[in-house]
Amino acid sequence: MEKYAIRGGIPLVGEIDIAGAKNAALPIISAAIMSNETVTLENLPDVNDVNVLLEAIQRIGASVNRVDRHTVRINGSQIKGYDIDYESMKKIRASYYLLGALLGKYNKATVPKPGGCAIGSRPIDQHLKGFKALGVNIEDQGGFVRASCRQMEGAHIFMDVVSVGATINIMMAAARAEGRTIIENAAKEPHVVDAANFLNSMGARIKGAGTDVIRISGVPDFHGCTYTIVPDMIEAGTYMMAAAATKGDVVIHNVIPRHLDAISAKLREIGCEVKEGDDWVRVVATRRLHSTQVKTLPYPGFPTDMQPQMAAVLALADGTSFVRESIFESRFKYVDELARMGADIKVEGNVAAIVGISGYHGAEVSSPDLRAGAALVIAGLAADGITIVDDIEYILRGYEDFDEKLRLLGAAMEVVHSDAELHRFEAWG
Ligand code: EPZ
Repeated sequence: MEKYAIRGGIPLVGEIDIAGAKNAALPIISAAIMSNETVTLENLPDVNDVNVLLEAIQRIGASVNRVDRHTVRINGSQIKGYDIDYESMKKIRASYYLLGALLGKYNKATVPKPGGCAIGSRPIDQHLKGFKALGVNIEDQGGFVRASCRQMEGAHIFMDVVSVGATINIMMAAARAEGRTIIENAAKEPHVVDAANFLNSMGARIKGAGTDVIRISGVPDFHGCTYTIVPDMIEAGTYMMAAAATKGDVVIHNVIPRHLDAISAKLREIGCEVKEGDDWVRVVATRRLHSTQVKTLPYPGFPTDMQPQMAAVLALADGTSFVRESIFESRFKYVDELARMGADIKVEGNVAAIVGISGYHGAEVSSPDLRAGAALVIAGLAADGITIVDDIEYILRGYEDFDEKLRLLGAAMEVVHSDAELHRFEAWG
C-alpha cells in the first residue's frame, strides 16, 4: 500500500523542471512503430502510462531500447502482431492510438474497446467515424474492434465532437492513406501539434495542426528520426496551482508559457502574480485569493485536466466560485474527498459551486483519478495538520517524481508503505 503523507501549511518556495508531456508521448510512442527505421524519442516522461505503452508495443514485436530515463529508441520493423491485448487496454486507454498506427502501417488492427473511467464513459465513436471515412472496415466484435482495409483513401472528415484522441488517431492513419485528408473541427491542444510535428519528422505531410482544420497528404512510408517531446503543460499547471494554494513563490522551468495562458490568466484573476520568461513561469501568491468563474473548454480554453486542481485552490479563495465542467460528464468525484478536508462545495449537474473557507484541515482521502489525486495533494499541502492520500498509483500514471519535486519546493511529504512508516512520519512532528 503506497500513500502520500503530507504535513501541510508550508508555503512552497523554489524552482523545479517540468518533464515531457504524457499526452504527447503516448500518441508519439504509438506512431513511432509506423517506421521500419529507428526512432529516438527524447524528453520522454518517466511515468507509468508511458512505461505501460512501451511494454505494449514490445508485446507486438517492436524493439524498445531505453537509452536513459528520458530517452528511448524504438524500431517497428519486426512487428509481428496487429492485435492489442485486453491487458494493455485495461491498463491504459491510450492504447487506442495503436489502432491508428497499425492501420496506417498495415491496413489492419484489432484493439479492445477501451472502457469508461472515473471521469466519464469515454466513447471512441469519433475515432471509428474517421477510420470508416478513410475506407476502413470496422467490425464491432463485442469487446473488440477489428479494423481492416485494402488501402485507405483520403477523405474530408467533419468531427462531431472536438476530440484530442480522435483527431490524433485519424491523423496518424490518414498520414499513410492514398491522397488528401481534411479533418474539420480538429482538436488544437499542444499535444495534437506535437504528434503532427513528430509524424512530419518521419516524413508525413501534415499542415494546420493547432488550428480547426488539419490537411494531410498521405505518403507510402516513414523514415526514422530523433524527436524531443513537448513540455507537459498540465504538470506545469499543477505546480502553479500548488504554489497558489500554499501562498508560495515557485519558478517552473522547461515550459512553453503560451501553452499555460488560460491557467496563468485564471491565477492572475484570483490574485496571484504570474511572471513569464522564454521557458519558465513564476507564481507568487502572497495575498488572500478571491473567487472567480471557470469553464473548461478545448484548447486554448481552460483545460479540463486542470479543473480539479483549480477547484482545490478556489476552495481557499474569498467568496463563491463556480466551476463548469463542459468536457466530461463526471469529473467532480474529488469533491467528496475535499469535503472531508473541510471544503464547502456543492455540485449540481456539471457545475460546482465553491464557497471559500479559511483553510483545509488534514484528513485521510483517496484519489479517484489522476488529476483529482493531484488536487487532493494540493489541498493537503495547504491543509493544517497531516493529510494521507491513498490510491496514489493514479497519480504516478502522469506525474514524474511528484513527491520529490514537491519536497524540492519545501513540502513536508513522504511516500509511506506501511502504518509503521506513517506513524514515524506523524511522530516526526
Ligand atoms: C485526452 O483524452 C487526454 N488523454 C485527457 O487527459 C484529456 O482530458 C482529454 O484529451 C481532453 O483534453 C490523453 O491524451 C491520453 P477527448 P481523450 O477525445 O482524447 C468525447 C489526463 O488526465 N468523445 O478529447 O480521450 C469524450 O467523451 C487525461 O491526462 C466522444 O464523444 O479525450 C469527451 O466528452 C484525462 N467520442 C470529449 O469528447 C469520441 O470518439 C473530449 O474527449 C471521443 C471523445
